[in-house]
Amino acid sequence: MRDEILSQLYWRQGEYVSGQELADKLGITRVAVWKNIEALKEEGYLIEAVSRKGYLLRNGKEMIIPGVVKAELRGCLLGRDIIYYSQLDSTNEEAKRRINAGCKVEEGTVIVAGRQTAGRGRMGRKWESPAGGLWFSVVLSPELAVSELALLSLVFARAVAKSLDTFLPGGCQIKWPNDVYVKGRKLAGILLELSGEMDRAHYLVAGVGINVNVAREDLAGEIRDAATSLYIEAGRKVDINKVLTGVLKSMDDYYNLFRERGFSPIREEFKACCMHLGRKVRVKRGEGYIEGINEDIDFMGNMVINTGKEIIRISTGDVSI
Ligand code: BTN
Repeated sequence: MRDEILSQLYWRQGEYVSGQELADKLGITRVAVWKNIEALKEEGYLIEAVSRKGYLLRNGKEMIIPGVVKAELRGCLLGRDIIYYSQLDSTNEEAKRRINAGCKVEEGTVIVAGRQTAGRGRMGRKWESPAGGLWFSVVLSPELAVSELALLSLVFARAVAKSLDTFLPGGCQIKWPNDVYVKGRKLAGILLELSGEMDRAHYLVAGVGINVNVAREDLAGEIRDAATSLYIEAGRKVDINKVLTGVLKSMDDYYNLFRERGFSPIREEFKACCMHLGRKVRVKRGEGYIEGINEDIDFMGNMVINTGKEIIRISTGDVSI
């Protein structure tokens, strides 16, 4: 019911909606409407109540409204269920907890948090997740070989970059394997994790972190110069529900394309927006580094580096340019 009230207020942003109208529409009493509104306020939704006028949602663009996103994604696999928490340790952890506890988690379920207290990045790094960003995980159970699963990381990077490009036309590039950059600063990252036994049906948790309405001063000191946000780049706040809808739609499109036609068509797009293809790169491998020209991204999603002495194919690592 809370979800439905929120969606109604979101769709009528800028207007007061009377308690009576909400009660009639949803088939509940005005007191029940009021109780739900009080609970929503506790969760951080700024809802103004004015007698004889009704309720007005003030921060609809900054808060996730699950019902709105779900309605926009009708017909898509991704987003068929959206579970929102105002705060979590990590959406990837929550997805895995649900899977491992044997809860029924339908493929395409999205877990999203207003902020994360223990967000995780690739290579065991910490992922800063303040309020204003978009932190979510999608649960999938693809029938793919493990080698193909690795490609999904590049597939989703292309999907996220393409969708964020609609907010910053022509501005988004990919750093292999799956970071989205704008003008040399990181805007978004993806963490793919497998859950469950390898010989049984297994789940893939695709965690996506996007700095949406995060101001420079809200970025932690150690990443302040290296990271950016849609807000910083666009110079205005962006509706986080539109970002989530757009990114999930794009991930859904590319997931289907990948399952139907494989990596080839996506590889070309990936290469076209890869920020270091044809350039000199340095990749950290264990204790050492590999340096050379990044000549290609191959059909297995490996980064191909010509060191001048040999051609090396790298399947994992951290690139610097
Ligand atoms: C990276 O670039 O290192 C990957 C960052 C992935 C961050 C997202 S935020 C949602 C999900 N939950 C996590 O703890 N991590 C991922």
